[in-house]
Amino acid sequence: MTHKVVVVGMGKRGMHHASAFQKNARFELAGICEPDAPRLAKAKSELGGVGAYADIASMSKEVKPALFCFCTPPHIRLDVIKAGIASGAKLIAFEKPVALSMTEALEIRKAVQAAGVKTVVSHQHRYGVHYKKVREIIDSGAIGRVHTVYEHATGWMTHMITHMIDLAGYYAGDAEADWVMGQAAGRGKLADIHPSPDYIAGIVQYKNGVRGYIETGAGAPDVPEVEAWWRKNRVGAQGSDGFVEALTGGGWRAVTKNGVMKGEGSMNYDLDMPPYVDQMADWLDDDKKVHPCNGETAHRGIEIMMGIIRSVVERGQIKLPLGPGEPEIEALKKVLPERPVLLSSEVNRKEYLG
Ligand SMILES: NC(=O)c1ccc[n+]([C@@H]2O[C@H](COP(=O)([O-])OP(=O)(O)OC[C@H]3O[C@@H](n4cnc5c(N)ncnc54)[C@H](O)[C@@H]3O)[C@@H](O)[C@H]2O)c1
Repeated sequence: MTHKVVVVGMGKRGMHHASAFQKNARFELAGICEPDAPRLAKAKSELGGVGAYADIASMSKEVKPALFCFCTPPHIRLDVIKAGIASGAKLIAFEKPVALSMTEALEIRKAVQAAGVKTVVSHQHRYGVHYKKVREIIDSGAIGRVHTVYEHATGWMTHMITHMIDLAGYYAGDAEADWVMGQAAGRGKLADIHPSPDYIAGIVQYKNGVRGYIETGAGAPDVPEVEAWWRKNRVGAQGSDGFVEALTGGGWRAVTKNGVMKGEGSMNYDLDMPPYVDQMADWLDDDKKVHPCNGETAHRGIEIMMGIIRSVVERGQIKLPLGPGEPEIEALKKVLPERPVLLSSEVNRKEYLG
C-alpha cells in the first residue's frame, strides 16, 4: 500500500524529507507547501513538478495525506500540528525540537493523543552506522554495566541539545529520566531563530541509575579529531569494563574487555533519511512497529531539555515529568547574566564572540 505524503516548509530539511519520500516506493509525494514563492518554485522543479502550494489551507483542500510532514523553523509547531490533525493524516512527522516550551510540547501531545495520530520527530542521527555501533557494543555487554552517558556539541542548544538528549537516552538503555539539574551562560544566541543560551550544561539522573552529562554551545569541549565545526560532537557511554563513543564527524572507538576497537562513520543525511522514512511506512502499516523516533520518546527528551532550563531559572534539581509552566526560554532571558560566555576553546570564538 502506498502512503500519500505532504511536506510543509521547503528549506534544507523539507527538501531532505521530500526527496527521501519521493525515492521510496511505499510513499507518494502528493504535495509540498512553502510561503516563499521562489523557494517553492525551485523545490517544485527539483521534485519533478509535484503539487505545490503557498499555504497549508489551500493544500489541505486538495490533498488528503496519510502522512503530514513539516520542517518549519522551531517557533512554528502547535498550529501546524493542528493543521496536520485536521488534514486527516494518520502520522505527523516533524522536525526537532518538539517545541520551544514545555507548555507547547504538552499541548502537542494532548492534541495528537486525542486525535489518535502517531508522531515521529526527526532525531535521525540515530541511523548513523557509528552511532548504532555504540549501542551495539553496549548491548553486547563488552563495556559491562553502563553507569555514565556523555553527549556534547559545540553547536547551540536549540539546534543540538535534543539530538544529544536522544542519543543519551539511547545509550542509557532507552531509560526515562528521574530528575535533571543545569546551568547556563551567555546571551548572544537568545535572539537567534534557534533561541538558546550560548552555553548550557545539564546533569540527568535516569531511573535505571545511569548518569547523563549533556552540554551544548560555547563552553562544550572541542572535539579536535573532527574539523567540521557542527560535527564537533562526542557521544558515548562508560561502563564497568570500558567505554565506547562516536564523534558526529569522526567514526567510533571503544576500549572494552575484549580489546580496543574503532571504525568509520560520519553523520550523513543521504544515508540516514532513507531508513528513517521507511520505518514511518512500517509504523503506518503495522501499529506494533513503533518508529524508533516516536513522539513519546521525543517528548521525554523535550522534558529533559526544559527541565535543565527550569533548573537554571529556579536553581536546584528538577523532578520529571514536567507540567506546564512559564515559557522556559523567556524565563531564561530574565535570569541569564550580561557577562559574555567563557569559551572552552578558540574554535568556538567565531560563532559566539566573533
Ligand atoms: N534533524 C536534523 O538533523 C536537522 C538539521 C537541521 C535543521 N533541523 C531542524 O529543521 C527545522 C527546519 O530547519 P531548516 O534548516 O530546514 O530551516 P530552513 O530555514 O532552511 O527551512 C524552513 C522553511 O520553512 C518555511 N516556513 C516558515 N513558515 C512556514 C509556514 N507557516 N508554512 C510553511 N512553511 C513555512 C520557511 O520559509 C523555510 O523555507 C528546524 O526546526 C531545525 O531545527 C533539523
